[in-house]
Amino acid sequence: MASVPSLASSLHQRIADALSAALPEAGAADPLLRRSDRADFQANGMLALAKKLKGNPRELAGKVVDGLPTGDLIQEIEVSGPGFLNITVTDRAITETLAARAADDRLGVPFAERPGTSVIDYAQPNVAKEMHVGHLRSAVIGDAVAKILEFSGETVVRRHHIGDWGTQFGMLIQFLIEHPHELDHKDAASGEEAMSNLNRLYKASRALFDSDEAFKERARRRVVDLQAGDAETLALWQRFVDESKIYFYSVFGKLDMEIQDADVVGESGYNDMLADTCRMLEESGVAVRSNGALCVFFDDVKGPDGNPTPLIVQKSDGGFGYAATDLSAIRDRVGKLGAESLLYVVDARQGLHFKMVFETARRAGWLPEGVKAVQLPFGTVLGKDGKPFKTREGETVRLVDLLDEAIARATAVVREKSEKLGLSEEEIAERGTQVGIGAVKYADLSTSLGRDYIFDLDRMVSLNGDTSVYLQYAYARIRSILRKAGESASAKAHPELALAPAERALALHLDQFAETLAEVAGSYEPHKLAAYLYQLASAFTTFYDQCPVLKAEDAATVENRLFLAELTGRTLRQGMSLLGIRTPEQL
Ligand code: ARG
Repeated sequence: MASVPSLASSLHQRIADALSAALPEAGAADPLLRRSDRADFQANGMLALAKKLKGNPRELAGKVVDGLPTGDLIQEIEVSGPGFLNITVTDRAITETLAARAADDRLGVPFAERPGTSVIDYAQPNVAKEMHVGHLRSAVIGDAVAKILEFSGETVVRRHHIGDWGTQFGMLIQFLIEHPHELDHKDAASGEEAMSNLNRLYKASRALFDSDEAFKERARRRVVDLQAGDAETLALWQRFVDESKIYFYSVFGKLDMEIQDADVVGESGYNDMLADTCRMLEESGVAVRSNGALCVFFDDVKGPDGNPTPLIVQKSDGGFGYAATDLSAIRDRVGKLGAESLLYVVDARQGLHFKMVFETARRAGWLPEGVKAVQLPFGTVLGKDGKPFKTREGETVRLVDLLDEAIARATAVVREKSEKLGLSEEEIAERGTQVGIGAVKYADLSTSLGRDYIFDLDRMVSLNGDTSVYLQYAYARIRSILRKAGESASAKAHPELALAPAERALALHLDQFAETLAEVAGSYEPHKLAAYLYQLASAFTTFYDQCPVLKAEDAATVENRLFLAELTGRTLRQGMSLLGIRTPEQL
């Protein structure tokens, strides 16, 4: 494993050196290098610098140019406009850099300089409830962020903070006690069956709860038993959790996502910390009693009436809520798991909750200065009407139904396109699933986190445009070219060859993979990786249109183009797999 410095970073270093030689008083100055349409790169750091030191930017740029030899790395460098530098790199440097990437398992991508430990809270559905599109976003984004961080060398601990505790269990358990046959099958045969059992139970117990005062009272007493740890009550509660997990795992499985049982630490997992959490908050004065409830107040958090809205950690009846659990989870994640970063992939609508929880934990000393806590707040999934996604009956859309529909649509696309490939039914089904699930994930991941997006399957499975199918086809095409080359020609870098414009554009983009990943890992923005991959597939499409590969003029060019195609394929595959999307070899 050897990390490969990108052309941009080598160039950056050279210009920075030339800059400090030309202008020693500037110290370590940033040349502000970026990719450009005019040349390969443009550096415009000379402008601000000259301004700051009251010099002439064009003159300064000229001096920098004089200090930069051309030849190995730089093909051409010129001062333009008010004092920019336009830089073209040599074809040889491009091909050699890519050859070094190709020789490395990690495509030359370095590990982070100082990797740490991140605990990421994502994919947290609620027991005895259906999963909806909000749970999809958390799962898909969290999975991608976790994979990207891990690839950068970070130690990642996953926590699925499922909603497995609360007063609603009193009602469910009491109902089950009174109707024992309702869940008396051995094990649900499938996730769907488990969920339909739970749904039925939930609806029936809810109806009784709302209509029968005596049942309501028994359900309330059952909550007390549950909280007191009564064995029979806990055993029944466990059945609800287990039944729900069968369902969750089936949906995560459909999403092609691995969830480890040990990482599922729901709200109940912090029960025995709650009393201590509250006691410490009260003793330290971080929280105060207000009308019997234990509250934390914030200067800048006020309700519509102008009165402060506190974070309630314990209700006046002694019950602990969502906040007490999250605060206890922070103590656990920082104190026991050694987290240096706490990430929460949770709906933007819970932003205020996390703001208050983080601030409380800081005041209490549970989030020391070196530890950061960030919510990755995601926007809402909308229906085609631009309103939050609901069925015609006004109910929340079931996630499984959406996934099944995506798979069905994608399978139709694969079937139509794959006629000439002669795929078997089984292969069509497998690829249909990979394309359908990929389409859903990609649509989610290619939207910046905070934005709402419209769930539009027609667009998601379209072969054109910014979709995963487009990327998967680019990958499959590359694999098919390489298969066709077969024995007769192999991929090999030829640094001596001059590159055509489309080859250069593709190559320079390939070289930016590591920097893109570093940026994405630093900012937790998977959509930037999606955008990078889309541009990569587009650059490949242009290259493939303009530069014949197997029919190129000479053997060396054939090999070099195969080399570019192969590296593009590996980069696409690596990038897509970090997004949790499959790349079938044939489509
Ligand atoms: N179960 C919650 C929901 O469905 C999300 C939990 C988020 N994580 C947390 N630590 N509060 O909205």
